[in-house]
Amino acid sequence: MSARVAILISGRGSNLRALCEAMKADDFPAEPVLVLSNRPGAGGLEYAKAEGLPHAVIDHTLFYSRDSFDAALQDALLAARPDIICLAGFMRLLTPGFVEKWKGKLVNIHPSLLPKYPGLNTHQRALDAGDTEAGCTVHHVVPEMDAGEIIGQTRVPIRPGDTAEMLETRVREAEHALYPACLRKLVDQSSRG
Ligand code: GRF
Repeated sequence: MSARVAILISGRGSNLRALCEAMKADDFPAEPVLVLSNRPGAGGLEYAKAEGLPHAVIDHTLFYSRDSFDAALQDALLAARPDIICLAGFMRLLTPGFVEKWKGKLVNIHPSLLPKYPGLNTHQRALDAGDTEAGCTVHHVVPEMDAGEIIGQTRVPIRPGDTAEMLETRVREAEHALYPACLRKLVDQSSRG
């Protein structure tokens, strides 16, 4: 049986692409059932359209509160019946009530070696700290930002002379392998009950 996966984005969507390309493999136990963006101009929507994937926009600027936005998100997701929801560059904090409803099924990718550097500007912060390695983390989503149980992590070296942009590129490449691998792990775990 194939797990149903919803992917939430806000921007470029390179992780969306990596996940969907991986799911094309015959032996991958999951399929994309919804691509949802909170920004009408998100680049990832172009990929979803080109691939003929079900996609939707719920523009957060049209909602007067986080609760009302999350309620609309919830309706769209219930209609798509996902087994797993992958946040892939989804730049909205979700309300605790929403997170609770999808507990164990809601995962995120973050561009640092959590618990180091939750939040933004992770690459510059790693450089400023003089770190010799950086990386990315896929984790369960809990109400506290970037704090849930870790599913998988990949380390990449920080090289002398690296800029934040260079590091971001190296980390993102690692993200594109890590996220599909973690999705597979999650599906395998849940199918074993
Ligand atoms: C990635 O770096 C991811 O770790 C972070 O947001 C970025 C999204 O990039 N959460 P993309 O839209 O998948 O290209």
